[in-house]
Amino acid sequence: MYLTKEQERILEGEEGESLSKMLQLIVKIGEVNDAEKLISVNSAQIAGVSYLTVGDAIFSFFDMINKDNLKVKIPSWLNPAGMDMGRYKEMGIDSLFSKKQIQIIEEYRKLGIKDTLTCTPYLVGHEPKFGEHVAWSESSAVSMANSYFGARTNREGGPSSLASALTGLTAEYGLHLPENRKPEVLIEVDAVLESFADFSVLGFWFGENQGGKIPFFRGIKQLSIEKAKSLSAAMAASGSVAMYHVEYFTPEYKKIKKEDLTETIHFTEEEKKSIYERFKEQDNIDLIAIGCPHASKKEIKMIYNVVKSKQKKSDVDIMIFTSRKVLTDEEIVSIVKKMTKKGIKVYADTCMVVSPVTRQNYRNIITNSSKAVFYLSKNKETNVFLDTLENILRRIVR
Ligand code: F3S
Repeated sequence: MYLTKEQERILEGEEGESLSKMLQLIVKIGEVNDAEKLISVNSAQIAGVSYLTVGDAIFSFFDMINKDNLKVKIPSWLNPAGMDMGRYKEMGIDSLFSKKQIQIIEEYRKLGIKDTLTCTPYLVGHEPKFGEHVAWSESSAVSMANSYFGARTNREGGPSSLASALTGLTAEYGLHLPENRKPEVLIEVDAVLESFADFSVLGFWFGENQGGKIPFFRGIKQLSIEKAKSLSAAMAASGSVAMYHVEYFTPEYKKIKKEDLTETIHFTEEEKKSIYERFKEQDNIDLIAIGCPHASKKEIKMIYNVVKSKQKKSDVDIMIFTSRKVLTDEEIVSIVKKMTKKGIKVYADTCMVVSPVTRQNYRNIITNSSKAVFYLSKNKETNVFLDTLENILRRIVR
């Protein structure tokens, strides 16, 4: 791989052992993927924040980095943590977990990384620009960056996105190259897609059946940012899909040559129904979990409009997960106050998957996110069901 003199100097340790190790990681990944050179990236979004997922191993990693007092070279933000950083006691987080979680965030802060603690940086003022190279690691955000915004990122891991944050570099391979961004399969969407969950179901179905491929969806009638994030998250979870195109809606669709699409598959009402059927509610629900990916202002307002004149059933908890930025929005502050009075909990900084409380305290969870279903179902003691937000809310309020 070609390296500039400056990159070689860093690799040789002239700016310290830690930075050299960070660059070594990027070079290694580049070599494995036949990259010819390193390129600059404009931002990094870093996963590996929740103490639930990273454990104590992360502290030796921080020890290594901190030896040389490293600071990030580009704007860098964090993925959700394992708890709401302000209301973790109310969430029922134990003191050991909260202590470790606070320590982890503090370590990231020391490096100059912003504690946005959200998987939807693009909803809080960090939309990537068309064509810009970035190093993001939350899988749904990666797919949004590539597909919805036309930015370029591979699906980075926590350590590699951190290495990019500290060096400002990544290896040029995969989705950074235009030739790798072409769709491989045409999906004719014959089913009607209306709710966020419908888009999530399409994504889940595609990922499960065609995982790893880039699809070109035809027949989708509208694609709001909320629908795109539902689609992105589901596909990334069930099939590691990091990019897709949607006719008329995503920025690179015009470059697609229809004759290059040799395979066509139909997504019909039958496929849609079969996914809903598979995750159909079977037991008495004890938790409704909304906000995977983190809920936007629009989603919180939608929920409020349904529940405002109604009462929540007492045997069901409702949790909505969002970013701190959305939660402190003036309009949302007043809505959340009213929802709190109704017993609805709106948390920031965390989510139903990366926080321990959902798994520990609930056995029958319903959500409108296929990604949440995918990950929460890994715990065999938890039953997880899927439905549209409208249907879910209808059942739990009176
Ligand atoms: Fe975000 Fe958690 Fe879902 S990080 S995409 S809300 S699993």
